[in-house]
Amino acid sequence: MAKLRVGVLVSGTGSLLQAILEGQDSSYEVGVVASDRPGIRALERAEKAGVPTVVVEFPKGEAREIASEKIARTLRNHEVGLGVLAGFMKVVTANFFDILGVPAMNSHPALLPSFPGAHGVRDALAWGVRVTGTTIHFATPDLDGGPVIFQEAVEVLADDTEETLHERIKVVEQRLYPEAIRLFADGRLKLEGRRVHILPAPG
Ligand code: GRF
Repeated sequence: MAKLRVGVLVSGTGSLLQAILEGQDSSYEVGVVASDRPGIRALERAEKAGVPTVVVEFPKGEAREIASEKIARTLRNHEVGLGVLAGFMKVVTANFFDILGVPAMNSHPALLPSFPGAHGVRDALAWGVRVTGTTIHFATPDLDGGPVIFQEAVEVLADDTEETLHERIKVVEQRLYPEAIRLFADGRLKLEGRRVHILPAPG
């Protein structure tokens, strides 16, 4: 089977990107990393790994649609078979998915459908839940609403701050995201309605 090429979208420190880079194997490789802002740590990590990088600024309002199109075209030009949102903090518009033309995944730091949006960790903490976690899911135009691939719980400790809780959630995301990409690359994720079935490894 040919290696799956993935295009990763980042906005921040890129600890998830790093895990995805380190997870590269015979199933998948990172073909391009795109960011909505220059000079971030995630881009440094990509450059260090020898992966081409692109910056597409993401203004508010109507221009967001143009930026979404631009970023999708960039991924297409690199012939990716999967878009991977890894801590990408801008909301792409629906045309991103149309133009990309292949599936996309996202990792969210809460147990969806609880606490969607940009502050999943903060909102869970403020609500006072005892358990939160992470959701790796197919990304769709419905923000944080696509079919779930993996979920794993993380306990909230009495003295947690947003930072300490997020750090523990990130450790789980870093383990699960490369695995989800690998399963997709190996053709082992089967979508049936909203449900994602994980098929057994062949032979
Ligand atoms: C992850 O928790 C992801 O779910 C959230 O941002 C974090 C990624 O951070 N949206 P990093 O830039 O990969 O370190």
